[in-house]
Amino acid sequence: MKILITGALGQIGSELSSSLKKIYGEKNVITSDLKTSGVADEYQPYETLDILNKTALAEVIKKHNIDVIYHLAAILSASGEKNPQLCFDVNIIGLYNVLEVARELNIKQIICPSSIAVFGPETPRDNTPQQTVILPKTMYGITKASGELICNYFVQKYQMDIRGLRYPGLISYKAPPGGGTTDYAVEIFYQAITKKSYQCFLKPDTTLPMMYMEDAIRGTIELSQIEFKKLKNYCDFNFAGISFSCQELADEIKKSIPDFVISYAPDFRQAIADSWPKSIDDSEARNQWGWKPQFTLEKMTLDMIKNLRKKLL
Ligand SMILES: NC(=O)c1ccc[n+]([C@@H]2O[C@H](COP(=O)([O-])OP(=O)(O)OC[C@H]3O[C@@H](n4cnc5c(N)ncnc54)[C@H](O)[C@@H]3O)[C@@H](O)[C@H]2O)c1
Repeated sequence: MKILITGALGQIGSELSSSLKKIYGEKNVITSDLKTSGVADEYQPYETLDILNKTALAEVIKKHNIDVIYHLAAILSASGEKNPQLCFDVNIIGLYNVLEVARELNIKQIICPSSIAVFGPETPRDNTPQQTVILPKTMYGITKASGELICNYFVQKYQMDIRGLRYPGLISYKAPPGGGTTDYAVEIFYQAITKKSYQCFLKPDTTLPMMYMEDAIRGTIELSQIEFKKLKNYCDFNFAGISFSCQELADEIKKSIPDFVISYAPDFRQAIADSWPKSIDDSEARNQWGWKPQFTLEKMTLDMIKNLRKKLL
C-alpha cells in the first residue's frame, strides 16, 4: 500500500509519518508539504506539493501509484483568524482538490482530520455530543464544518472511503504546534523547563479538550484500519482524550517543577477558546471502532517533561 501525506511537516504529520513508515514501510509513505529544500532524511521520499495546485497533486499521485491519502495540509485556528482568505483557500479549495483528484484517480482511502473547532458557543460545552449544534464562529471552524459535510457528500455520492476525526488540542514534545488556540499546552512545557515561568494567552479557568499525540496517532491509524462498512459515521467522529484548565495543567507541572510560575495575559485566542467545548462525548468512536485513550493528565505531563528535559537541557 502506498500512502501520500499532505502537510506532512506539520505537528501531526511529523509524527504520523514515522508511525506509518514503521507499519507500511519507509518507501511506501510519501510525505509532502510546501517546503522546497532542507527536508530531513526521515521524511524521504518527499515531494514539494501545494495542494492548491490540482495538477501537481495529480502528478504526485500518479508518479507514486498512491492508494491512500492522509490529508493534513491546513491553516489552523489562530493563523486562520489572522488570514481568513488563506484559511478558506487551503482548507476548502485544497480539500476539494484532494477529493476531486482522489475521485478521478480511484484513491482507495482518504483520512481527513476535522476539529473541535466545528462547534460554536451555541453547542453544549460539557460532554459535547456527536450530533449537536454546529455553528462555528471562526473561519477555521467554518472550513472544518464545511469539510466534514463535503467529505460525507463524496462518501454518499461516489461511494468513496473517507474518514475523519474531530481532533482536540494535540500535545507533543516532538513537533511544535502550528498556530492553534491550544498551542499554550505545548509552549507551557518548553518555558517551564527552560525558564521556570510562562505567560499564558488564555485565562486560568479555560478548560479545553486535549489529547497526547501518541494517543492521537494511534487512534487515527486504528480508524484507518477498521472495515469501512462497520462505520455509521465517516468524517466527523468526536474524539476525546483529556480535558483540563490552564491552571490544572500548571499545577500538574508544578509537581515535577516546584518553582514553576504561571501568569496570564489573555489575547484574541480567549474568544476562540470560549466558543469551544470543555469536554467531548466520544462514545460513537468508542462503540464503532473501539477508541480508548491511554494518557491521563498526570501520565502525559510526566512524559512531556521527561522527553523535553532530554531535548532541551
Ligand atoms: N494540532 C492540533 O491540535 C489539531 C487540532 C484539531 C485539528 N487538527 C487538524 O489536523 C490537521 C493537521 O494539523 P497540524 O496540527 O499538523 O497542522 P500544522 O499547521 O502543524 O501543519 C499543517 C501543514 O500544512 C502545510 N500547508 C499549509 N498550506 C499548505 C498548502 N497550500 N499545501 C500543502 N501544504 C500546506 C504547512 O506547511 C504545515 O506543515 C489539520 O487538518 C488540522 O485542522 C489539528
